[in-house]
Amino acid sequence: MFFVAAVAALLISACGGEIDRTIYTVVPERPAGQEDVIGLATEPIDTVRVGFIGLGMRGIGAIERYVYVPGARIAALCDIRPEMVERAQKVMRDAGLSDVPAYSGTEDAWKQLCDREDIDLVYICTDWKHHTEMAVYAMEHGKHVAIEVPAAMNLDEIWTLINTSERTRKHCMQLENCVYDFFEMTTLNMAQHGLFGEILAVEGAYIHNLEEFWPYYWNNWRMSFNEEFRGDVYATHGMGPACQLLDIHRGDRMVTLVSMDTKAVNGPAYVERTTGERPENFQNGDHTHTLIRTANGKTIHIQHDVMSPRPYSRMYQLTGTDGYASKYPIEEYCFRPEQIMSDEIPDHENLNMHGAVSPEVKAALMEKYKHPIVKELEEMAKKVGGHGGMDFIMDYRLIYCLNNGLPLDMDVYDLAEWCCLGELSRISIENNSAPVAVPDFTRGGWQKIQGYRHAFAE
Ligand SMILES: NC(=O)c1ccc[n+]([C@@H]2O[C@H](COP(=O)([O-])OP(=O)(O)OC[C@H]3O[C@@H](n4cnc5c(N)ncnc54)[C@H](O)[C@@H]3O)[C@@H](O)[C@H]2O)c1
Repeated sequence: MFFVAAVAALLISACGGEIDRTIYTVVPERPAGQEDVIGLATEPIDTVRVGFIGLGMRGIGAIERYVYVPGARIAALCDIRPEMVERAQKVMRDAGLSDVPAYSGTEDAWKQLCDREDIDLVYICTDWKHHTEMAVYAMEHGKHVAIEVPAAMNLDEIWTLINTSERTRKHCMQLENCVYDFFEMTTLNMAQHGLFGEILAVEGAYIHNLEEFWPYYWNNWRMSFNEEFRGDVYATHGMGPACQLLDIHRGDRMVTLVSMDTKAVNGPAYVERTTGERPENFQNGDHTHTLIRTANGKTIHIQHDVMSPRPYSRMYQLTGTDGYASKYPIEEYCFRPEQIMSDEIPDHENLNMHGAVSPEVKAALMEKYKHPIVKELEEMAKKVGGHGGMDFIMDYRLIYCLNNGLPLDMDVYDLAEWCCLGELSRISIENNSAPVAVPDFTRGGWQKIQGYRHAFAE
């Protein structure tokens, strides 16, 4: 593990004499002889043999989908709880498949799954604290890895995953499903066709009152993590779609962030209500905001709130020089009116002049710009399901790219960028919302590829 220290730099900038109050973290040098994995393509795999670790709420959903994913085979199962493994075997039996080798009962039974010779991909759906250890071991034993969100919880883990992927030349993908939602994909396609002009500002969020879910996390891992850590501990659902729109590490990169949170109210109240004991020092604020600025002068606003009685929202709003899109609270698109009636005095009673396009125009646009991947998979995705189908598209694309030896839709640097808020937002908050530098996780390669694109076989 790398020692990552927050180094406060009060540098007098050479030009202008301003004080730079940015906090920098250590960027470990790339070990000699190691190269980046930008655009990594590996040997095509005819049938991807997948081993699953963690078969709780999320893991069992993955098994239910993988019985339908073409080009993949469920090859082994693992959960520390034997009953979870048995439940997964039953899903397979019900789908007409045979039982597969399974591991459970001890904390490190998962290593036996990773040691197997007949597995190509290890798919990790455990609690947050296990992700990195399992992924590193799997890559070191010759497997590609796919890790549930957030794949890494701090900078040490992030740099360890990057270095392991670079050294072993194995894919290390985070299972960020929200980039495959139908609205996000179609809007990304519209953005790539220039409908919004230059995109300047993007918003994303994870606003989801988890009250009904808290009792079901194994060993209470999720509330415990919130009790222990301040900052945006679950940023990837907002970050993924935002970063794809802004071509992060494909021509632009995040440079600085600042974060602020509210005090913690509902978290400690829930713990007290359900355990009878008031936690003394509950860390995670009910609502956390983070603002990020990029090298090309764009901004990203990310929010986290799993405590408040609010409607679910991932926000997903983009502002471009020529248009606007929003998924929450309502799906809508706005574009610059072709003609502004300059001889009329603006009417303050009609502030909707730049309002959203009509439902008919929106529907026609969404049909015209439906993403090619959505066009191909929509019907099957809706049938198989998983958050309305986006989870199936994520799994399908991962296997399709491995089958065809293509770069994956999300690489280890995406993982790093979308997860880094976990620690960087905490550093900012604990330093009175000071600016914190976002490391260049590619270590110099962020302009090698220009523009985010999905890969396709010939
Ligand atoms: N992408 C999404 O939309 C989405 C939705 C929900 C959860 N998640 C993520 O999925 C992951 C799992 O969340 P969940 O809701 O399924 O939690 P969960 O508590 O239901 O499942 C975790 C599972 O890991 C198992 N486990 C723990 N330690 C283990 C070990 N040493 N070896 C083998 N198995 C072990 C537990 O027995 C449990 O079954 C988390 O990272 C979470 O953030 C993602």
